[in-house]
Amino acid sequence: MNLFDVYPINPINIVKGEGSLVYDDKGTEYLDLYGGHAVISIGHTNPHYVKRLEDQLHQIGFYSNSIQIPLQTELAAKLGHVSGKEDYQLFLCNSGAEANENALKLASFYNGKKKVITFKKAFHGRTSLAVAVTDNPKIVAPVNQTDNVIFLPWDDEAALTEAFKNNEISSVIIEGIQGVGGIQVAPVNFLQKIRTLCDEYNAVFIADSVQCGYGRTGKFFSHDFAGIDADIYSMAKGMGNGFPVGGIIISPKIAPAYGMLGTTFGGNHLACAAGLAVLEVIERDNLMQNAAEVGGYLIEELKKFDKVKEIRGRGLMIGIELPEELSNVKKDLLFKHNIFTGEAKPNVVRLLPALNLTKAYANRFLEAFATTLKNS
Ligand SMILES: Cc1ncc(COP(=O)(O)O)c(C=O)c1O
Repeated sequence: MNLFDVYPINPINIVKGEGSLVYDDKGTEYLDLYGGHAVISIGHTNPHYVKRLEDQLHQIGFYSNSIQIPLQTELAAKLGHVSGKEDYQLFLCNSGAEANENALKLASFYNGKKKVITFKKAFHGRTSLAVAVTDNPKIVAPVNQTDNVIFLPWDDEAALTEAFKNNEISSVIIEGIQGVGGIQVAPVNFLQKIRTLCDEYNAVFIADSVQCGYGRTGKFFSHDFAGIDADIYSMAKGMGNGFPVGGIIISPKIAPAYGMLGTTFGGNHLACAAGLAVLEVIERDNLMQNAAEVGGYLIEELKKFDKVKEIRGRGLMIGIELPEELSNVKKDLLFKHNIFTGEAKPNVVRLLPALNLTKAYANRFLEAFATTLKNS
Protein backbone atom coordinates (compact mmCIF):
# COMPACT_ATOMS: atom_id res chain seq x y z
CA MET A 1 0.00 0.00 0.00
CA ASN A 2 1.20 3.53 -0.78
CA LEU A 3 0.65 6.61 1.34
CA PHE A 4 -2.01 9.07 0.17
CA ASP A 5 0.32 11.71 -1.19
CA VAL A 6 -0.93 15.03 0.20
CA TYR A 7 2.21 16.51 1.77
CA PRO A 8 5.24 18.03 0.01
CA ILE A 9 7.95 16.57 2.27
CA ASN A 10 11.63 17.20 2.93
CA PRO A 11 13.89 14.17 2.36
CA ILE A 12 14.87 13.96 6.06
CA ASN A 13 14.10 11.14 8.48
CA ILE A 14 14.11 12.48 12.05
CA VAL A 15 14.62 9.61 14.49
CA LYS A 16 15.54 11.30 17.75
CA GLY A 17 14.96 14.55 19.63
CA GLU A 18 16.13 16.25 22.78
CA GLY A 19 15.02 19.72 23.86
CA SER A 20 15.34 22.03 20.85
CA LEU A 21 17.49 19.59 18.88
CA VAL A 22 16.50 16.74 16.59
CA TYR A 23 18.64 14.15 14.79
CA ASP A 24 18.18 12.30 11.52
CA ASP A 25 18.94 8.65 10.78
CA LYS A 26 22.51 9.57 9.78
CA GLY A 27 23.14 11.28 13.11
CA THR A 28 22.99 14.84 11.70
CA GLU A 29 21.93 17.38 14.33
CA TYR A 30 19.25 20.00 13.53
CA LEU A 31 18.11 23.00 15.53
CA ASP A 32 14.32 22.88 15.70
CA LEU A 33 12.77 26.34 15.49
CA TYR A 34 9.62 24.88 13.96
CA GLY A 35 8.62 22.64 16.87
CA GLY A 36 6.88 20.26 14.46
CA HIS A 37 4.49 23.12 13.62
CA ALA A 38 4.19 24.78 17.06
CA VAL A 39 3.49 21.46 18.74
CA ILE A 40 6.64 20.92 20.78
CA SER A 41 6.04 23.30 23.68
CA ILE A 42 8.35 21.93 26.39
CA GLY A 43 11.04 20.39 24.17
CA HIS A 44 11.48 16.96 22.62
CA THR A 45 11.63 14.00 25.03
CA ASN A 46 11.40 16.26 28.07
CA PRO A 47 12.34 13.89 30.97
CA HIS A 48 9.36 14.80 33.19
CA TYR A 49 6.99 14.32 30.24
CA VAL A 50 8.49 10.99 29.25
CA LYS A 51 8.31 9.69 32.81
CA ARG A 52 4.71 10.82 33.34
CA LEU A 53 3.57 9.16 30.12
CA GLU A 54 5.59 6.01 30.82
CA ASP A 55 4.20 5.70 34.37
CA GLN A 56 0.66 6.25 33.11
CA LEU A 57 1.05 3.66 30.37
CA HIS A 58 2.01 1.10 32.99
CA GLN A 59 -1.21 1.92 34.90
CA ILE A 60 -3.82 2.35 32.17
CA GLY A 61 -3.63 4.13 28.80
CA PHE A 62 -7.28 4.45 27.89
CA TYR A 63 -10.77 4.04 29.15
CA SER A 64 -13.86 5.78 27.84
CA ASN A 65 -15.68 8.87 29.12
CA SER A 66 -18.34 6.61 30.65
CA ILE A 67 -16.33 6.33 33.88
CA GLN A 68 -14.69 8.77 36.29
CA ILE A 69 -11.30 9.97 35.08
CA PRO A 70 -9.81 12.03 37.93
CA LEU A 71 -6.88 12.98 35.69
CA GLN A 72 -9.35 15.12 33.70
CA THR A 73 -10.37 17.15 36.75
CA GLU A 74 -6.72 17.43 37.73
CA LEU A 75 -5.91 18.74 34.26
CA ALA A 76 -8.83 21.20 34.35
CA ALA A 77 -7.71 22.56 37.73
CA LYS A 78 -4.11 22.93 36.58
CA LEU A 79 -5.15 24.58 33.31
CA GLY A 80 -7.43 26.98 35.20
CA HIS A 81 -4.56 27.89 37.48
CA VAL A 82 -1.85 28.33 34.80
CA SER A 83 -4.13 30.17 32.33
CA GLY A 84 -5.82 32.30 34.98
CA LYS A 85 -9.28 31.22 33.73
CA GLU A 86 -10.14 29.35 36.93
CA ASP A 87 -13.93 29.53 36.55
CA TYR A 88 -14.03 28.16 32.97
CA GLN A 89 -15.07 24.59 32.10
CA LEU A 90 -12.90 22.18 30.12
CA PHE A 91 -14.01 19.88 27.30
CA LEU A 92 -11.25 17.66 25.93
CA CYS A 93 -10.87 16.41 22.37
CA ASN A 94 -7.98 15.44 20.09
CA SER A 95 -7.02 18.20 17.65
CA GLY A 96 -7.30 21.87 16.83
CA ALA A 97 -9.92 21.44 14.14
CA GLU A 98 -12.02 19.37 16.47
CA ALA A 99 -11.68 21.99 19.19
CA ASN A 100 -12.92 24.73 16.83
CA GLU A 101 -15.69 22.48 15.50
CA ASN A 102 -16.93 21.98 19.07
CA ALA A 103 -16.59 25.68 19.89
CA LEU A 104 -18.66 26.79 16.87
CA LYS A 105 -21.27 24.14 17.51
CA LEU A 106 -21.50 24.97 21.21
CA ALA A 107 -21.93 28.68 20.43
CA SER A 108 -24.87 27.86 18.19
CA PHE A 109 -26.44 25.58 20.81
CA TYR A 110 -26.03 28.40 23.32
CA ASN A 111 -27.71 31.25 21.45
CA GLY A 112 -29.70 29.34 18.83
CA LYS A 113 -28.20 31.44 16.02
CA LYS A 114 -26.46 30.28 12.84
CA LYS A 115 -24.08 32.85 11.37
CA VAL A 116 -20.37 32.91 12.10
CA ILE A 117 -17.98 35.78 11.52
CA THR A 118 -14.43 34.88 10.55
CA PHE A 119 -11.62 36.84 8.93
CA LYS A 120 -9.61 36.96 5.72
CA LYS A 121 -6.51 34.73 5.83
CA ALA A 122 -7.79 32.85 8.89
CA PHE A 123 -6.96 29.18 9.38
CA HIS A 124 -9.08 27.14 11.76
CA GLY A 125 -8.63 23.52 10.62
CA ARG A 126 -10.00 21.00 8.18
CA THR A 127 -13.15 19.42 9.63
CA SER A 128 -16.41 20.63 8.13
CA LEU A 129 -17.24 23.80 10.10
CA ALA A 130 -13.59 24.56 10.88
CA VAL A 131 -12.73 24.49 7.18
CA ALA A 132 -15.85 26.51 6.31
CA VAL A 133 -14.52 29.36 8.49
CA THR A 134 -11.03 29.01 6.97
CA ASP A 135 -10.18 31.44 4.18
CA ASN A 136 -8.68 29.05 1.63
CA PRO A 137 -11.08 27.92 -1.11
CA LYS A 138 -8.65 25.17 -2.14
CA ILE A 139 -9.29 23.18 1.03
CA VAL A 140 -13.07 23.68 1.13
CA ALA A 141 -14.89 20.79 -0.56
CA PRO A 142 -18.34 21.43 -2.04
CA VAL A 143 -19.92 19.59 0.88
CA ASN A 144 -18.32 22.05 3.33
CA GLN A 145 -19.73 25.15 1.64
CA THR A 146 -22.33 27.01 3.68
CA ASP A 147 -24.11 30.36 3.69
CA ASN A 148 -23.66 30.61 7.43
CA VAL A 149 -20.16 32.04 7.28
CA ILE A 150 -19.26 35.71 6.81
CA PHE A 151 -15.65 36.53 5.92
CA LEU A 152 -14.63 40.03 6.99
CA PRO A 153 -11.46 42.01 6.37
CA TRP A 154 -8.89 41.99 9.16
CA ASP A 155 -9.07 44.91 11.58
CA ASP A 156 -12.07 46.62 9.97
CA GLU A 157 -14.30 47.81 12.81
CA ALA A 158 -16.90 49.37 10.50
CA ALA A 159 -17.40 46.11 8.56
CA LEU A 160 -17.58 44.20 11.85
CA THR A 161 -20.23 46.52 13.30
CA GLU A 162 -22.27 46.35 10.10
CA ALA A 163 -22.19 42.52 10.07
CA PHE A 164 -23.78 42.39 13.53
CA LYS A 165 -26.71 44.63 12.62
CA ASN A 166 -29.24 41.88 11.72
CA ASN A 167 -28.68 40.19 15.08
CA GLU A 168 -28.00 36.84 13.38
CA ILE A 169 -24.45 36.30 14.55
CA SER A 170 -23.89 33.22 16.66
CA SER A 171 -20.15 33.58 17.07
CA VAL A 172 -16.97 35.33 16.01
CA ILE A 173 -13.86 33.20 15.67
CA ILE A 174 -10.43 34.84 15.60
CA GLU A 175 -6.81 33.85 16.14
CA GLY A 176 -4.98 36.19 18.53
CA ILE A 177 -2.14 35.98 16.01
CA GLN A 178 -2.89 34.56 12.57
CA GLY A 179 -0.39 31.76 11.99
CA VAL A 180 -0.97 30.35 8.52
CA GLY A 181 -2.01 33.90 7.54
CA GLY A 182 1.60 35.04 8.00
CA ILE A 183 1.93 35.96 11.70
CA GLN A 184 -0.52 38.86 11.85
CA VAL A 185 -1.10 40.11 15.38
CA ALA A 186 -4.75 40.96 16.08
CA PRO A 187 -4.83 44.62 17.16
CA VAL A 188 -5.87 45.11 20.78
CA ASN A 189 -8.65 47.59 19.83
CA PHE A 190 -10.10 45.15 17.33
CA LEU A 191 -10.30 42.34 19.90
CA GLN A 192 -11.93 44.75 22.35
CA LYS A 193 -14.47 45.77 19.70
CA ILE A 194 -15.35 42.11 19.08
CA ARG A 195 -15.88 41.66 22.82
CA THR A 196 -18.19 44.69 22.99
CA LEU A 197 -20.28 43.61 19.99
CA CYS A 198 -20.54 40.01 21.21
CA ASP A 199 -21.85 41.30 24.54
CA GLU A 200 -24.30 43.64 22.87
CA TYR A 201 -25.75 40.96 20.56
CA ASN A 202 -25.38 37.86 22.77
CA ALA A 203 -22.86 36.34 20.36
CA VAL A 204 -20.03 34.04 21.44
CA PHE A 205 -16.41 35.19 21.20
CA ILE A 206 -14.25 32.21 20.18
CA ALA A 207 -10.52 32.73 20.64
CA ASP A 208 -8.70 30.26 18.42
CA SER A 209 -5.58 29.67 20.47
CA VAL A 210 -4.51 26.46 18.77
CA GLN A 211 -1.27 27.97 17.48
CA CYS A 212 -0.90 31.29 19.33
CA GLY A 213 -1.94 30.01 22.76
CA TYR A 214 -0.51 27.86 25.52
CA GLY A 215 2.12 30.37 26.64
CA ARG A 216 3.81 30.80 23.26
CA THR A 217 3.49 34.60 23.26
CA GLY A 218 4.55 35.08 26.87
CA LYS A 219 0.95 35.22 28.08
CA PHE A 220 -1.11 32.03 28.27
CA PHE A 221 -3.53 33.21 25.56
CA SER A 222 -2.39 35.83 23.08
CA HIS A 223 -5.89 37.37 23.30
CA ASP A 224 -4.96 38.26 26.91
CA PHE A 225 -2.89 41.15 25.53
CA ALA A 226 -6.20 42.92 24.83
CA GLY A 227 -7.28 42.62 28.47
CA ILE A 228 -10.51 40.83 27.51
CA ASP A 229 -11.94 37.38 28.21
CA ALA A 230 -13.25 35.32 25.31
CA ASP A 231 -16.25 33.02 25.87
CA ILE A 232 -14.49 29.97 24.45
CA TYR A 233 -10.77 29.34 23.89
CA SER A 234 -9.78 26.51 21.55
CA MET A 235 -6.45 24.79 22.12
CA ALA A 236 -4.36 21.89 20.77
CA LYS A 237 -0.77 21.81 19.40
CA GLY A 238 1.40 22.69 22.44
CA MET A 239 -1.13 21.19 24.84
CA GLY A 240 0.29 17.66 24.58
CA ASN A 241 3.85 18.34 23.35
CA GLY A 242 3.25 15.88 20.51
CA PHE A 243 0.63 13.64 22.06
CA PRO A 244 -2.64 14.49 20.28
CA VAL A 245 -4.61 16.52 22.83
CA GLY A 246 -7.07 19.30 22.04
CA GLY A 247 -9.71 21.08 24.03
CA ILE A 248 -11.92 24.07 24.59
CA ILE A 249 -12.36 26.03 27.77
CA ILE A 250 -15.82 27.47 28.17
CA SER A 251 -17.05 30.49 30.10
CA PRO A 252 -19.31 29.76 33.09
CA LYS A 253 -22.16 31.55 31.31
CA ILE A 254 -22.50 28.58 28.90
CA ALA A 255 -24.18 25.65 30.64
CA PRO A 256 -23.50 22.04 29.65
CA ALA A 257 -26.18 19.45 28.86
CA TYR A 258 -25.74 15.71 28.47
CA GLY A 259 -25.07 14.71 24.87
CA MET A 260 -24.30 18.25 23.66
CA LEU A 261 -20.67 17.35 22.89
CA GLY A 262 -18.90 14.02 22.94
CA THR A 263 -15.82 12.07 21.89
CA THR A 264 -14.37 8.58 22.15
CA PHE A 265 -10.70 9.37 22.59
CA GLY A 266 -10.78 12.90 24.05
CA GLY A 267 -9.59 13.15 27.64
CA ASN A 268 -8.23 9.62 27.88
CA HIS A 269 -5.78 8.76 30.65
CA LEU A 270 -2.66 9.01 28.53
CA ALA A 271 -3.74 12.31 26.93
CA CYS A 272 -4.39 13.81 30.37
CA ALA A 273 -1.01 12.63 31.63
CA ALA A 274 0.62 14.35 28.64
CA GLY A 275 -1.42 17.53 29.23
CA LEU A 276 -0.55 17.60 32.92
CA ALA A 277 3.15 17.02 32.27
CA VAL A 278 3.20 19.97 29.84
CA LEU A 279 1.55 22.36 32.30
CA GLU A 280 3.77 21.17 35.15
CA VAL A 281 6.88 21.93 33.12
CA ILE A 282 5.52 25.29 31.86
CA GLU A 283 4.91 26.28 35.48
CA ARG A 284 8.03 24.75 37.06
CA ASP A 285 10.44 26.20 34.48
CA ASN A 286 8.70 29.60 34.00
CA LEU A 287 8.38 28.90 30.29
CA MET A 288 6.00 31.77 29.56
CA GLN A 289 8.59 34.16 30.92
CA ASN A 290 11.28 32.48 28.86
CA ALA A 291 9.12 32.74 25.73
CA ALA A 292 8.66 36.46 26.36
CA GLU A 293 12.37 37.04 27.02
CA VAL A 294 14.00 34.91 24.32
CA GLY A 295 11.24 35.80 21.85
CA GLY A 296 11.59 39.51 22.62
CA TYR A 297 15.35 39.23 22.13
CA LEU A 298 14.94 37.46 18.78
CA ILE A 299 12.41 40.03 17.56
CA GLU A 300 14.69 42.95 18.46
CA GLU A 301 17.75 41.35 16.83
CA LEU A 302 15.83 40.39 13.69
CA LYS A 303 14.63 43.96 13.25
CA LYS A 304 18.27 44.96 12.72
CA PHE A 305 18.56 43.11 9.37
CA ASP A 306 18.19 45.58 6.48
CA LYS A 307 17.04 42.98 3.98
CA VAL A 308 14.05 41.94 6.11
CA LYS A 309 10.77 43.62 5.10
CA GLU A 310 9.00 43.24 8.46
CA ILE A 311 9.20 41.31 11.72
CA ARG A 312 5.85 40.45 13.31
CA GLY A 313 4.76 38.45 16.32
CA ARG A 314 4.95 38.11 20.06
CA GLY A 315 7.16 35.95 22.23
CA LEU A 316 8.14 32.78 20.40
CA MET A 317 5.64 33.17 17.57
CA ILE A 318 7.61 35.19 15.05
CA GLY A 319 7.15 35.95 11.37
CA ILE A 320 10.02 37.21 9.23
CA GLU A 321 8.63 38.77 6.06
CA LEU A 322 11.23 38.66 3.30
CA PRO A 323 11.28 40.26 -0.13
CA GLU A 324 10.37 37.99 -3.03
CA GLU A 325 13.98 37.61 -4.24
CA LEU A 326 14.90 35.95 -0.93
CA SER A 327 12.61 32.96 -1.40
CA ASN A 328 15.53 30.58 -0.80
CA VAL A 329 16.09 31.50 2.86
CA LYS A 330 13.96 28.81 4.51
CA LYS A 331 15.55 26.07 2.35
CA ASP A 332 19.07 27.38 2.96
CA LEU A 333 18.50 27.45 6.70
CA LEU A 334 17.46 23.81 6.58
CA PHE A 335 19.91 22.34 4.09
CA LYS A 336 22.99 24.54 4.68
CA HIS A 337 22.62 25.28 8.40
CA ASN A 338 20.47 22.37 9.64
CA ILE A 339 17.80 24.62 11.11
CA PHE A 340 14.10 23.82 10.85
CA THR A 341 11.76 26.79 10.50
CA GLY A 342 8.17 27.13 9.31
CA GLU A 343 6.77 29.25 6.51
CA ALA A 344 3.68 31.16 5.49
CA LYS A 345 2.96 31.97 1.88
CA PRO A 346 4.21 33.81 -0.03
CA ASN A 347 7.48 34.58 1.76
CA VAL A 348 7.30 34.61 5.54
CA VAL A 349 9.66 32.49 7.64
CA ARG A 350 7.82 31.37 10.78
CA LEU A 351 9.58 30.65 14.06
CA LEU A 352 7.59 28.40 16.40
CA PRO A 353 10.18 26.77 18.67
CA ALA A 354 9.77 25.09 22.04
CA LEU A 355 9.09 27.59 24.82
CA ASN A 356 12.34 26.69 26.57
CA LEU A 357 14.50 27.76 23.65
CA THR A 358 17.74 29.15 25.06
CA LYS A 359 19.39 32.42 24.12
CA ALA A 360 22.39 30.41 22.89
CA TYR A 361 20.19 28.60 20.35
CA ALA A 362 18.55 31.91 19.41
CA ASN A 363 22.05 33.23 18.69
CA ARG A 364 22.91 30.12 16.68
CA PHE A 365 19.90 30.90 14.51
CA LEU A 366 20.74 34.61 14.19
CA GLU A 367 24.27 33.80 12.98
CA ALA A 368 22.97 31.32 10.41
CA PHE A 369 20.31 33.81 9.32
CA ALA A 370 22.95 36.53 8.87
CA THR A 371 25.09 34.21 6.74
CA THR A 372 22.12 33.15 4.65
CA LEU A 373 21.09 36.75 3.95
CA LYS A 374 24.69 37.73 3.13
CA ASN A 375 25.00 34.92 0.58
CA SER A 376 21.58 35.48 -0.98
C1 LIG B 1 -4.93 28.61 14.34
C2 LIG B 1 -5.18 27.18 14.03
N1 LIG B 1 -6.39 26.64 14.30
C3 LIG B 1 -6.66 25.34 14.06
C4 LIG B 1 -5.71 24.50 13.53
C5 LIG B 1 -6.04 23.07 13.25
O1 LIG B 1 -5.41 22.25 14.15
P1 LIG B 1 -5.25 20.68 13.85
O2 LIG B 1 -4.31 20.54 12.70
O3 LIG B 1 -4.73 20.10 15.15
O4 LIG B 1 -6.60 20.16 13.52
C6 LIG B 1 -4.42 25.01 13.24
C7 LIG B 1 -3.38 24.14 12.65
O5 LIG B 1 -2.39 24.56 12.11
C8 LIG B 1 -4.16 26.38 13.49
O6 LIG B 1 -2.97 26.92 13.22
